[in-house]
Amino acid sequence: MECIRLEEITKKYGKDKNTVTVLDKFNYTFEKGKFYMIRGASGSGKTTILNIINGLDEEYTGTCYINNENVTNKNEKGKAKIRALDMGYIHQEYLLLEDLSVLENVKIRLKCKNKYLKEKITSKSIKEKSIKVLESLGLKDHINKSPKELSGGQKQRVAIGRCLVSDVEIILADEPTGALDSKITIEIMDLLKGLNKEGKTIIMVTHDISILDYADEIINLI
Ligand SMILES: Nc1ncnc2c1ncn2[C@@H]1O[C@H](COP(=O)(O)OP(=O)(O)O)[C@@H](O)[C@H]1O
Ligand SMILES: [Mg+2]
Repeated sequence: MECIRLEEITKKYGKDKNTVTVLDKFNYTFEKGKFYMIRGASGSGKTTILNIINGLDEEYTGTCYINNENVTNKNEKGKAKIRALDMGYIHQEYLLLEDLSVLENVKIRLKCKNKYLKEKITSKSIKEKSIKVLESLGLKDHINKSPKELSGGQKQRVAIGRCLVSDVEIILADEPTGALDSKITIEIMDLLKGLNKEGKTIIMVTHDISILDYADEIINLI
């Protein structure tokens, strides 16, 4: 079943003589529940594709459909809602809020989703769910720490915890293992594969050819 469809996406940066065309009528259909990897040289447009899917890039032509709904036409509020309900984001630099505790970093993601739910989750339940997720990721002893006190692998687990707690269908991952050593890379990849086996669609950008076997499909950008 189709999950995301990119149709005739053209993305340019810069103006006039300095225009760079990054994507030129790019078409791709992502199926629900599959694990995709996007490869390509630095500057080939990998991050741009993720930003178009998550609605953070608005200056392109063509159309992005999520669950057969045109999201390109949506306003900022509509895009924020889809992000909150349907998408998780994992980044090479983890993108955790360092002034908050590990637990708060996870709770805030569920609070964000909660704003859009008709049946609200109670604060107590948000806290309980967040603790449970962190425990399942082996972070029980770290929940009250600052992310600054964690290792790279632990930080990436917290980022995965945000996806788990919000129970999103789609996980976008931009070089999630780019800053990790090979042992921790395998741990993180196994976690992502586990989520994929539970039905999540994963779209991951990577440079690491040693992990390509985790993917069902590989997209090569030139
Ligand atoms: N904000 C920007 N302004 C101008 N050029 C940009 C901007 N963001 C990205 N680019 C350019 O667009 C190209 C694609 O970027 P990106 O999608 O980040 O590539 P990748 O993730 O594959 O390395 C690069 O050549 C980059 O320099
Ligand atoms: Mg990139």
